[in-house]
Amino acid sequence: KKSDPTIFIIFGGTGDLTKRKIMPALYNLFLNKWLPENFAIIGTSSTKTNVQKYIDDLQSAVDEFSRNGKTNEEDWKRFSANITFQDADVTDSAAFKPFAKLIDQYKKEWQKTPSIIYYCAVAPRFFCTIAENISKAKLENDPKTTRIIIEKPFGIDLESARELNKKLLGIFAETQIYRIDHYLGKEVVQNIMAFRFANSIMEPLWNRNHVEHVQISVTEQIGIEGRGNYFEHAGILRDMIQNHLLQLLCIISMEPPINFNADEVRDRKVDVLKAMRKIETGKVETMSARGQYSSGWIEGKEVLGYREEKNVDPDSNTETYAALKLYVDNWRWQGVPFYLRTGKRLFKSASTITLQFREIPHNIFLSEESGAPKQNRLVISIQPDMAIRFQLQSKVPGLEMNLNTVDVVFDYSAGKKTDSPEAYETLLLDAITGDQTLFMRADQVEAAWELIMPILNYWEKNKEQNFPNYSADSWGPENAEALIAKDGYHWFNLP
Ligand code: BG6
Repeated sequence: KKSDPTIFIIFGGTGDLTKRKIMPALYNLFLNKWLPENFAIIGTSSTKTNVQKYIDDLQSAVDEFSRNGKTNEEDWKRFSANITFQDADVTDSAAFKPFAKLIDQYKKEWQKTPSIIYYCAVAPRFFCTIAENISKAKLENDPKTTRIIIEKPFGIDLESARELNKKLLGIFAETQIYRIDHYLGKEVVQNIMAFRFANSIMEPLWNRNHVEHVQISVTEQIGIEGRGNYFEHAGILRDMIQNHLLQLLCIISMEPPINFNADEVRDRKVDVLKAMRKIETGKVETMSARGQYSSGWIEGKEVLGYREEKNVDPDSNTETYAALKLYVDNWRWQGVPFYLRTGKRLFKSASTITLQFREIPHNIFLSEESGAPKQNRLVISIQPDMAIRFQLQSKVPGLEMNLNTVDVVFDYSAGKKTDSPEAYETLLLDAITGDQTLFMRADQVEAAWELIMPILNYWEKNKEQNFPNYSADSWGPENAEALIAKDGYHWFNLP
């Protein structure tokens, strides 16, 4: 991937995201020689700070959060020579003027037209304001060389997402807008495309004839991490399902695109969302389950219940766990249930996708001792384990014909963990090179909102009487077990 000189203007340049994700990613890209020879990072925030202090703060952040651990002084010096700071109140277009000057300076210095990346690493209420002020201040906005990165959450419901798209599209072309869903940048998630479409043995199995049901599970041990203000108004359905889990579902169930072009791939994903069975209001109860955690013990430490967390209403109706049963009504998937679940403060952190294949048509291993053959599964582990495993039936070595389950595994941990780039590295490099494949298009975001709106509305109107209904350190509420058990299945929990 070869790229032009690039200027990053990071709104929210002193914020948490910049420190935890963006800077470590840029620094690692730099170390691995992926950044263009000429690049500049302009951090910005409303409070003044001097450049050296800004750079020092960023260094401590990178020391703490980079997958490569502490920075090396020499490397950091070379990298940080490209960083500057410009304070700006994002609500004031006049405050954007200095950026024009800085851009001009770099142009002169480099003698080349740079790509400009405006990065909105700020609270969502500022996304539009920033776009509008870029336009008002007449900052560089050439559709070929200028891009804007928008963080999540993209809207709080279908209406606000539409509104935001409309406003952004009044200023930028769709080809300039990079809506982040960091799950799409994860290594194993990217491999699903390769796994499905670069192997001839997968595709014949990848449909309703062979797949009985699919589980997409993202369990987290962490709670809301002090984000009460945000989470109270979001809930897990908005925070995780509308974006991350539905995107995973799209990658698993999409049709093969004709090539790897960004719009081709995204067209096929949108097809999936369009084919999803609409959830009728009357069916919300039978197609979903919600939960909220109470206090509990995690790894020997007592943790608060959700309602006791800071900035959370003691009677809060916000869900911290959600499970859904969905269908993709098309030729390939008709009748195959997709079960999604995600929650905070669960027993283990693990993101996995499991395809359970149908039973063998006839069991020839009749004797009791041989054990009935179990159904095959394909388990895609995204994190913390990175692996793809087939669970097959096999003869136990010995004189009798006994069966057990064996795993055929592709395990990434053969290499070092730190060898895999983080999602933000992949995504930032794609933004630099102008590849939108792993970013969300306007229609994708809207289709995902459209799908979950009936549940959101129903849950908002109908308070859950049993909250809190699962304790921290458990696998979630009983109603989520019931949701899947009534179809004769159970959630696959890691030991
Ligand atoms: C974010 C959510 O988008 O994803 C968080 O806002 C969640 O609530 C996080 O914890 C999970 O991401 P990851 O990469 O740690 O699985």
